[in-house]
Amino acid sequence: MRPLIVAGLVLAATVASVAQQKTTDAGVYTAAQAARGAALFESQCATCHREGGSGPNLVGERFMSLFSDGPLSTVFTSIKTTMPRMSPGSLSDAQYVDVVTHLLRLNGYPDGMSELAAADLEGIKIPGQSGSLDFALIQVVGCLAHTANRWTLSQATEPSRTREPEAAKDDEAAKLDAAAAGTRTFRLQQVYAAPAGWTTQKVAAKGFLTKSGNEDRITVTSLRPLTSSCAN
Ligand code: HEC
Repeated sequence: MRPLIVAGLVLAATVASVAQQKTTDAGVYTAAQAARGAALFESQCATCHREGGSGPNLVGERFMSLFSDGPLSTVFTSIKTTMPRMSPGSLSDAQYVDVVTHLLRLNGYPDGMSELAAADLEGIKIPGQSGSLDFALIQVVGCLAHTANRWTLSQATEPSRTREPEAAKDDEAAKLDAAAAGTRTFRLQQVYAAPAGWTTQKVAAKGFLTKSGNEDRITVTSLRPLTSSCAN
């Protein structure tokens, strides 16, 4: 009897810690909610928070360094208590939550099936830069191969977060091209075809990172061939 009880306790503990670690990579808001947030942002925030405005850019490293590794309640509270600059607290809580989801979308966190509510904020973390990348939108560079209905990317770089699911633009592609080959291998999912010739060049892949057993997988959102060649 004893071992069974122990197993039950371990399972309960695991479930509790998974629940605690919910992050913004898990799709914690809906697309419709982020669209409402975008409209509010446009009318309440964009005059300052746009290119050349008085407020800082809210996308990318600065946002991450301020808010990553903390709960969404920190983002909510800091915005509610200080913004809009001339009239802090002038929106409803639900509106502030919508604005937060817009900022999540801008920063590359995926939408999901259910709306984010004020009561959820405390329990959801923005992952740290060094934290787990499971389910995150990432990019890697590697060599593409196709065998028996399997697409893989080998000699691949370590995955890094990206905000854009679309294929790398020219300037970004040039930087990716210069990266040294890595040692990772990823199985690519949702790749149905790739033009002939792509298997002889390095390729930049973007998508959502998942793990299945020992296999690292990327559910691909875009692929782009680079110019340097693959040795094999
Ligand atoms: C009148 C101009 C103005 C408006 C309108 C405004 N902000 Fe700001 N915001 C700023 C300035 C300036 C800062 C820099 C910190 C400070 O001086 O308070 C800032 C800082 C921030 C920060 C902290 C980010 C950082 O990098 O320091 C966030 C988040 C933010 N604003 C969000 C918003 C949101 C969301 C709205 C709309 C609801 C909004 N702001 C409206 C001017 C504005």
